[in-house]
Amino acid sequence: MKTKIAKKVTLIGAGPGDPDLITVKGVKALQSAKVILYDALINRKLLEYAPTAKKIFVGKRKGMHSFSQDEINELIVKNTFEYGNAVRLKGGDPFIFGRGSEEIDYIESFGIETEVISGISSSMAVPASQGISLTKRGVAESFWVITGTTSEKKLSTDVYLAAQSTATVVILMGMSKLNEIVSVFKKFNKSEIPTAIIQNGTTKNEKLGFGTINTIEEVVAQKKLSSPAIIVIGEVVKESAKLRSFYESLSLVSN
Ligand SMILES: C[S@@+](CC[C@H](N)C(=O)[O-])C[C@H]1O[C@@H](n2cnc3c(N)ncnc32)[C@H](O)[C@@H]1O
Repeated sequence: MKTKIAKKVTLIGAGPGDPDLITVKGVKALQSAKVILYDALINRKLLEYAPTAKKIFVGKRKGMHSFSQDEINELIVKNTFEYGNAVRLKGGDPFIFGRGSEEIDYIESFGIETEVISGISSSMAVPASQGISLTKRGVAESFWVITGTTSEKKLSTDVYLAAQSTATVVILMGMSKLNEIVSVFKKFNKSEIPTAIIQNGTTKNEKLGFGTINTIEEVVAQKKLSSPAIIVIGEVVKESAKLRSFYESLSLVSN
């Protein structure tokens, strides 16, 4: 008699890029996976935790076929029926602009059990790696994490609301909309607000640019910064111990 294989999909957050920034629970789940479907932004070193598992790349890579979300959903289900214990490995946290919930809805509609193992989102870990504390007593009471580009390829209207607040604003997928973002902050008299851009944060390919809303586009052009990057806008940027001397030189911080 053929034994029935238990079917399960575990969505794991791989963290922001540094392979050590995955949870212990995530590593354990990788070790017991039979098949792993992984995205472009995950660190490939993590796949070494599962030497015998089948590995399927479903991310976007320049010049290669990009899988649509429907194709990814179908591949997850197909491979789960074939191998039983599947892992969907996603960058950062699966529920922060990761389409994790859409995948879960599809997978569960086939009666397959799912589990989510949270990951360290780039939205917090990447600023932290530069000493930027998203909240700080007396400086920022909250922070917004916003997508720069919506599903309609437009700038999120939340950027307009966030620019009117005193919160720290963290923008993901915003590099192609930087010019519009800068205009919005200028419109609300925030030209002097410290602004940081961190590309490929927590990895060996990390690139950095710092300035203010007024200067950040020039910095991006000079340093040739591009995606994937996090844009952090707020007074907390100049409070970073790592960046203090830079902002002192702009006379934005008093000694
Ligand atoms: C589709 S979103 C996924 C975010 C992910 N779920 C998370 O929680 O970090 C991809 C965007 O996240 C940001 N991002 C992810 N990893 C990054 C990194 N190591 N450095 C800078 N930005 C990163 C970039 O804005 C990128 O375009």
